[in-house]
Amino acid sequence: MTVLSQIRSLVLGSIFLTAGVASLPFAALGLILKGRLFDIFNKSKLSEANFTLLWSIVGRPSAADEKLTNKTISQAYGVVLDLGPGTGFTVHHFDKSKTTKIFGIEPNKAFHPALQKAIDAAGLTDIYTIVGAGVEDSKTLKTFGIEEGSVDTIAACKVLCSIPEPKATIAELYKLLAPGGQFLVLEHVKAKGGLGVITQDLANMVWPFLMAGCELCRPTEAYLYGAGEWEVKDLQYPEGISGNEFITFTQGKLIKAK
Ligand SMILES: C[S@@+](CC[C@H](N)C(=O)[O-])C[C@H]1O[C@@H](n2cnc3c(N)ncnc32)[C@H](O)[C@@H]1O
Repeated sequence: MTVLSQIRSLVLGSIFLTAGVASLPFAALGLILKGRLFDIFNKSKLSEANFTLLWSIVGRPSAADEKLTNKTISQAYGVVLDLGPGTGFTVHHFDKSKTTKIFGIEPNKAFHPALQKAIDAAGLTDIYTIVGAGVEDSKTLKTFGIEEGSVDTIAACKVLCSIPEPKATIAELYKLLAPGGQFLVLEHVKAKGGLGVITQDLANMVWPFLMAGCELCRPTEAYLYGAGEWEVKDLQYPEGISGNEFITFTQGKLIKAK
């Protein structure tokens, strides 16, 4: 099982990596056609354009991913920060009867039209607001009333891999939670051993450029556990994941001390 999940992860990771390289010329062409010729020489803009194209094509979750995402997102309640919802693949998992307000913190504006469509299709139009900023942009978050102690749930699905200065930013996110508030997590993280460590280190030389800053080797669990005082700290490898995979996940929940 462990070996099988490692091989499966390597194959899927290689496909993603190959697709990321193959999409680069198309991403560059897309920028030129939009009249943004000089952006092809700007590393971060080309990287974002590449990931935008790639995610729209190969980002759609598999049935197994859907199950994991549902387990995380469906636990959200009250005022929610949905970190990096992208094109909205996960928003239909929110339980409308438990959530009063959801803020989708999505800096990539090219994703907003698809995200809004997914929000409408999920029947969340009246409670879901898209915030076109990064989670680190506390000034913009404040204009939406998102400040210290104002949030019941933070939901992070495959996004903490991409935020800048993750240790400091996660510590700031901790402050936004109300006492007793929950941080729901489904994140890919640094492998703990095996082939995963070597392949992650190798792939990470180009992966962040191809995937708009996504890092393969982040010890996100440590950043979360160290962000502040928690009443519950329960992050586990999901069933069938050993922690040694090339793309390995942690899932669970942290509850802020009261
Ligand atoms: C791998 S995608 C995941 C999208 C979605 N959560 C899902 O599971 O389908 C990562 C998302 O994080 C977003 N992101 C990157 N940097 C971010 C930041 N600083 N703050 C918030 N979101 C960010 C990206 O724009 C992208 O939509």
